[in-house]
Amino acid sequence: MAGILRRRRAAVLLALSLATASNAAEPPLRAMRWLPANSDRVALLTRAPAECLTPAATPAQALAIEIGRAAFRTPLLLGGQAARAGLSCDSCHQSGRGNPAFAFPGISGAPGTADVTAALFSRRRGDGIANPRPIPDLTVDARRIAPAALPAFVTGQIVEEFDGAAPPPAVLAGLVAYLNALDARACPDGPAATTPITAAATLADAGRAITAARAALAAGDAATAALMVLAARAQLGRLDERFPAAQQRPIRAADSALAATLPAIRARDARAATRLAAGQAAIPALARKLAAARRRSLYDPARLAAVIAGPPPAASAVTTARQPK
Ligand code: HEC
Repeated sequence: MAGILRRRRAAVLLALSLATASNAAEPPLRAMRWLPANSDRVALLTRAPAECLTPAATPAQALAIEIGRAAFRTPLLLGGQAARAGLSCDSCHQSGRGNPAFAFPGISGAPGTADVTAALFSRRRGDGIANPRPIPDLTVDARRIAPAALPAFVTGQIVEEFDGAAPPPAVLAGLVAYLNALDARACPDGPAATTPITAAATLADAGRAITAARAALAAGDAATAALMVLAARAQLGRLDERFPAAQQRPIRAADSALAATLPAIRARDARAATRLAAGQAAIPALARKLAAARRRSLYDPARLAAVIAGPPPAASAVTTARQPK
């Protein structure tokens, strides 16, 4: 059994690394790695399904859900090649839903499928053969994983399928709380509604992760606080790839400030809390800068469409013709 799991994992990781390596020309947005060219990438990269989240009953539950929500969006929760490719839980289960367009070479069959959990489901079927399955919407009622089995299931997914490190207990509890809070009945405008993917929303997610980091730190949980900082940095990375250099500078400064909190957090240095607070205090100013440059970013559908279309053929012909011999 362990051998089969290992072999399957090796196959998955190989496929991921080949997919990464063969992308000599990196797409402008990492999420384009798993969106095929014949899908409506402009729509898919500028609108996301609505998040359908049941409100928490207690402050402790609210914090757990926030920790899980941030971890769900963090590639570094998953290990090795998956993390390097930029895949997080949210890449497949967008906003906790499915992703009908998802197609990762070597991982997917038809769009919207992936072969990542097969080994976990296949005590009887664990044959090392590619079995891509539809990516389920995690908000639907009739889920096959009983709530009591979720912690083991999620740990198995992270550790066995993606080669990640076992998450800190509060992160695992948070992921389970988040999964349990996802519910189609909580969709704000019905399950079919979508929300725009914006710089403001991405930065807000970074801010929420920093809030969770500060709460974890206040509770003496350095490991969870550190992962939440990585979650915030993942959101800053998403901002960075959509803005031109003038906005990348303040984004990268914010990222460096967050990165600098990590040694203090891990050393349980008292200055970590002050530094995190400073990192959070810098967000509103950054938000204003990014809002002002919105039209120059790849959050703008027209600009994104132009980048995806590439330079017009005539222009490149001219460039070629002018090239000195
Ligand atoms: C590469 C795509 C991909 C990634 C990344 C991914 N999943 Fe999934 N997930 C799937 C697929 C496909 C299934 C269905 C597997 C099957 O039917 O055998 C699934 C199933 C599940 C289920 C079971 C739902 C049900 O009702 O059966 C849960 C819960 C889940 N995933 C949570 C997560 C979490 C949490 C993460 C991050 C730690 C994650 N997934 C990462 C593709 C993915």
